[in-house]
Amino acid sequence: MNPSLANFILKKTPDFILHPTKMADTKFTLNTGAKVPALGLGTWQSAPGEVTKAVSHALKVGYRHVDAAYIYGNEDEVGAGLKEGFDSGIKREDVFVTTKLWCTYHSRVEENLDKSLSKLGLDYVDLYLMHWPVPMNPKGNHETIPKLPDGSRDLDKSWSYIQTWKEMEKVLKTGKTKAIGVANFSVEYLEELLPQAEVVPAMNQIECHPYLAQHDVGDYCKEKGILITAYSPFGSTGGPLFQEKEIQEVAKKHDVTPGCVLLSYHIARGNCVIPKSVNPSRIEENMRIIKFDHSDLQALDHISKNHPPKRLIFPAFGLDLGFPDKKGATE
Ligand SMILES: NC(=O)c1ccc[n+]([C@@H]2O[C@H](COP(=O)([O-])OP(=O)(O)OC[C@H]3O[C@@H](n4cnc5c(N)ncnc54)[C@H](OP(=O)(O)O)[C@@H]3O)[C@@H](O)[C@H]2O)c1
Repeated sequence: MNPSLANFILKKTPDFILHPTKMADTKFTLNTGAKVPALGLGTWQSAPGEVTKAVSHALKVGYRHVDAAYIYGNEDEVGAGLKEGFDSGIKREDVFVTTKLWCTYHSRVEENLDKSLSKLGLDYVDLYLMHWPVPMNPKGNHETIPKLPDGSRDLDKSWSYIQTWKEMEKVLKTGKTKAIGVANFSVEYLEELLPQAEVVPAMNQIECHPYLAQHDVGDYCKEKGILITAYSPFGSTGGPLFQEKEIQEVAKKHDVTPGCVLLSYHIARGNCVIPKSVNPSRIEENMRIIKFDHSDLQALDHISKNHPPKRLIFPAFGLDLGFPDKKGATE
């Protein structure tokens, strides 16, 4: 073949075809020194009967990062999927497993972690996150979502999330988790936490996508050595972002799907990203991470600049969590 034609074809061939696993294998480094694969599998709302297969399939095709949580109610099935992977020869130390402390357990951190470990069938997790900075009544009318007679969430006003962090620091010393972090923390909440923390959180897992770019939290965390994991990268269930014109244009330019663009956006920003899927072909499709150029980042940032922030996950805790787009809002 004519060498200049060969060169032209090479230049036009998408990176994920030339190096199918290269970008999806990107790793970032936590402030503990541990490496974390940039791409992980989300498991929220992954139904019983589906999530074991999803985790097992993801491991088989190359994922090495799984995101779980006590409140998702499916850690036992996630654990069964992990076991299938380990039984197939994948080493435990090569898989990064995250799970999260639920709000009703803020004053019983080790108890909640023990429950998660037992359900997941693991001796340790790689990262344990405080799911929300919201302690809820441990003795209320429900194990996970206690409510007051008026229907509002039953918060534990005698306990602060700073105390919770102190308990997380203690649990780190047991070796049952290799790192500790937070989720859903705004700059305001981090500014309150950090001066009182002995251990700087390794991660802040936040909702992040072009409708809610959260550059303020991202920049602050970067400065403090806290890695970001972006959750709900497609805009959660139904993936509303797939329809955005700018996303479709970048997808067309690189000859990939809009989903690949939405995931690649985070890796270009230096964030981990944890798309949820229980569909084997979509689990594989979500590995096609591409290398963004400056104009791609600009196109996605253009969406953020031209839309008022749209926060899709904001449970009705009845608290202002310090996010500028929800100032004063409690639900
Ligand atoms: N820390 C927190 O408070 C928090 C909150 C929310 C989420 N999270 C974590 O972040 C993960 C991801 O967020 P999410 O579950 O809210 O939403 P998401 O990953 O933005 O979107 C999931 C939805 O997209 C669909 N999907 C996946 N891949 C697709 C593709 N390639 N093409 C078309 N549709 C596709 C999924 O359906 P199928 O399964 O049918 O493919 C599902 O309906 C969660 O699972 C959880 O682990 C954490």
